[in-house]
Amino acid sequence: MASLLYLAGGLLSLATLGVAKKCTCGDFSGLTLPNIEVLSLDVAVNRTTVAESPGGHSTSVRFCQVSIQYTHPGQNDAITTWIGLPLREAEWNGRFLMEGGGGWQAGSPRNVLGPVSNGYTSSSTDGGLNTTATAAEWGMVSEGNVNWPAIIDFSSVALDEAARLGKLATELYFGKGLEYSYWSGCSTGGRRGHMMAQRYPENFDGIVAGCPAFNWHRFVMAEVWPPLLAQFLDTRPPSCVLDAFTAAAIEACDELDGVGNVDRFFLQGVDEYTSVIGTDNPDLTGLRKAGGKVLAWHGLADTLIFPNGTIDYYERVVEANKNVSDYYRFFLAPGVGHCSGGSGPNPSAYLLDTVRAWVENGIAPETLPGTGAAVAGTNKTATRTLQLCRYPSVLTYVGADPNDSASFTCV
Ligand SMILES: *[C@@H]1O[C@H](CO)[C@@H](O)[C@H](O)[C@H]1NC(C)=O
Ligand SMILES: *[C@@H]1O[C@H](CO)[C@@H](O)[C@H](O)[C@H]1NC(C)=O
Ligand SMILES: *[C@@H]1O[C@H](CO)[C@@H](O)[C@H](O)[C@H]1NC(C)=O
Ligand SMILES: *[C@@H]1O[C@H](CO)[C@@H](O)[C@H](O)[C@H]1NC(C)=O
Ligand SMILES: *[C@@H]1O[C@H](CO)[C@@H](O)[C@H](O)[C@H]1NC(C)=O
Ligand SMILES: *[C@@H]1O[C@H](CO)[C@@H](O)[C@H](O)[C@H]1NC(C)=O
Repeated sequence: MASLLYLAGGLLSLATLGVAKKCTCGDFSGLTLPNIEVLSLDVAVNRTTVAESPGGHSTSVRFCQVSIQYTHPGQNDAITTWIGLPLREAEWNGRFLMEGGGGWQAGSPRNVLGPVSNGYTSSSTDGGLNTTATAAEWGMVSEGNVNWPAIIDFSSVALDEAARLGKLATELYFGKGLEYSYWSGCSTGGRRGHMMAQRYPENFDGIVAGCPAFNWHRFVMAEVWPPLLAQFLDTRPPSCVLDAFTAAAIEACDELDGVGNVDRFFLQGVDEYTSVIGTDNPDLTGLRKAGGKVLAWHGLADTLIFPNGTIDYYERVVEANKNVSDYYRFFLAPGVGHCSGGSGPNPSAYLLDTVRAWVENGIAPETLPGTGAAVAGTNKTATRTLQLCRYPSVLTYVGADPNDSASFTCV
């Protein structure tokens, strides 16, 4: 009896000490969801080099990599999701963090590397896209027929599932639940962050969403419209003609008129894709109830996704929800480009710490630090760090030294 107890105690302490699992398929045999059929599961220890900032050092990360391929029975789709876990419990910070996405790319195995090398568990998904095929190839099942399951997987469903599979894998591997979960992304990743906040508010305690591409159903239509029209009219105007048109449009700036059919297809496209990939629903009741926090930001010098769309969304969020600042805060970064670039103070390096402090310690951000080039210097590497203002307040210069954050205030 005593020896049995001793044995049981020994096993217990092995478990609580977090002796490494073997990182084999057996650790993840329970990894599935009710609506999916697992097609394959690969588990292996992976050692990969992570390049830090350009010119910086590279570090080697050793982690447990899980690749799961699955289908939604009947939909003829195939989604690959990658999960990364620190090998040992002692290397894990108790948290889950998802990042990434860009353009028509849902994610990649490399998206787990940053989080894992910082102690998080993480996951990423290909969203069901055949990454070696073009959007025209995977996006249509036949001439004129859209591959809706693939588009829905990419837009939302596969992301929700990647979050749930990643969290489940964490629990299976470490034998205990996680303390906090986070989303951090910019551009398509910023749209995703909003998709999570709007449709799957239970998935994340904290969401960082930068320069969000959430009017996707409108701006992708806007982007494909000129080439489509060129094809219809069988003409490709030279740039001098386009310049003349632009000048004339600015000059006239009158209402659209006489364009007839130009409009119908545009509106039809917007309408068809809104429910699928539109991510501009301002109703955040679910997020408020789930207790999640969203830290949103946009660079004012973003020429790819215009900051006004995010301002417009924020105004609608304020209108549709009570006490918005309890769970959604929005910052503008003057002079900062699309997620990076530009000469202004970029908040990227501070976002995750800021949302974590909000979620874990209740410190709601009044301002958000951002770092950019020092002003009027000859030293190209010198920087300044300013405190960005919470919208609608505006960063205003009131002091004498533009390099000094104390010279600015929020008005
Ligand atoms: C190891 O991980 C990296 C990054 O996630 C991935 O690109 C690579 O394919 C993995 N190697 C193997 C053998 O799976
Ligand atoms: C992906 O697309 C390429 C190019 O169209 C095709 O050759 C390949 O079979 C596709 N792969 C899958 C898994 O459908
Ligand atoms: C963006 O919003 C500002 C403030 O409302 C307005 O002055 C500006 O014209 C807008 N820009 C565009 C491109 O719509
Ligand atoms: C908004 O905040 C006030 C003050 O904290 C509180 O009394 C009120 O119940 C909140 N309303 C909602 C809908 O949460
Ligand atoms: C800002 O700081 C840089 C680097 O220290 C310096 O070269 C530059 O003169 C400063 N600008 C002003 C306006 O003081
Ligand atoms: C330029 O600024 C960087 C960062 O502040 C500093 O490390 C470096 O010494 C400066 N170089 C000169 C020549 O002042």
